[in-house]
Amino acid sequence: MSSPENIYPTFGRLIGRDSKETLLKQRGLVVWLYGLSGSGKSTLAIALERRLHGEGVSTQVLDGDNIRSGLNRNLGFSDDERKENIRRIAEVAKLFANAGVVTVASFICPRNELRAMAREIIGQEDFLEVYVECSFETCERRDVKGLYAKAKAGEVKQFTGRDSTFEPPDPRQAAELILNTDEQGEEESIEQLYRAVHPRVALPNA
Ligand code: ADX
Repeated sequence: MSSPENIYPTFGRLIGRDSKETLLKQRGLVVWLYGLSGSGKSTLAIALERRLHGEGVSTQVLDGDNIRSGLNRNLGFSDDERKENIRRIAEVAKLFANAGVVTVASFICPRNELRAMAREIIGQEDFLEVYVECSFETCERRDVKGLYAKAKAGEVKQFTGRDSTFEPPDPRQAAELILNTDEQGEEESIEQLYRAVHPRVALPNA
């Protein structure tokens, strides 16, 4: 832990967020996708990024691939480690949003408390909470990464939805948007996601 009295704040001298957003001609935002492993978060994150990028919007996806293999490579899947995982991701997402970038975070983020913490760190204004809803049974059937089979065989411990808790949003309205990938097709989910994000990315006078 660093001692705060030895940290010299540079905030007053940094270029402000407004200037960065004006340069990029967009507003920074964090789109916070969460749900079970295999629910479709990454697919939606990638599709959203492609669509926005195609329209000239500057974006960054944060997901297990680029975070758990780098910044958070020392963290596992206990409750405390998941909390630290999400805390660091939220801090990184906040930096990107402050640079005017539309940041798409895609993590299981299994508990209401963790989503509240991320919202608190990032700030209400910049946080769009999106629950990617899909039943455990469907995710298990899809088993894209083969992890459900491994968890069933006891080879993966603390597996979300099995021996580690996943809480849907409570109240349901905590999520600004719920995309049920059990019930609706990929194209429809992408369209709904895009329609929720797009108005929040445009600068008022652009
Ligand atoms: S979170 O709970 O801390 O938000 P995160 O989204 O970073 O989880 O990582 C989840 C990904 O890690 C899964 O998609 C899966 O590929 C992998 N994984 C490895 N072990 C586990 C586990 N025990 N539970 C859930 N996911 C796991």
